[in-house]
Amino acid sequence: MFFKINNYEKSSYIIKTLELNGSVEQGYSLFKTNCVGCHGITARGLVGPDLHSITQRLNDKQIIKQVTQGLTPPMPSFEIDPVNMSDLLRYLHSLE
Ligand code: HEC
Repeated sequence: MFFKINNYEKSSYIIKTLELNGSVEQGYSLFKTNCVGCHGITARGLVGPDLHSITQRLNDKQIIKQVTQGLTPPMPSFEIDPVNMSDLLRYLHSLE
């Protein structure tokens, strides 16, 4: 397990995502399609937690892991490309 996570952190997926400069608007659009059912239209939380200030509690790698790995059911894992992941990160950074 440790090996898997360690490996994942160095994966080209993460490196690629962190190199990109996502768009907040695109990120919100993706959020509306994939996340609002659980996190709410304004990300204030429903089934899932409020995501405001999330970027102060989790770093980008941790957020990428949360979204792509499905480690905390009922939250599913999402198969999204680095561009979209970068957009989502930008959106989450815009929440205060
Ligand atoms: C089926 C419901 C569901 C969907 C859809 C969902 N989430 Fe979640 N999410 C959760 C739940 C429940 C948790 C809390 C998991 C836990 O820690 O036990 C969570 C936790 C998180 C966390 C960590 C919050 C924290 O305080 O640690 C982030 C970040 C997050 N979700 C982002 C997203 C994003 C971005 C999407 C869309 C791509 C998404 N979620 C879609 C249910 C969902």
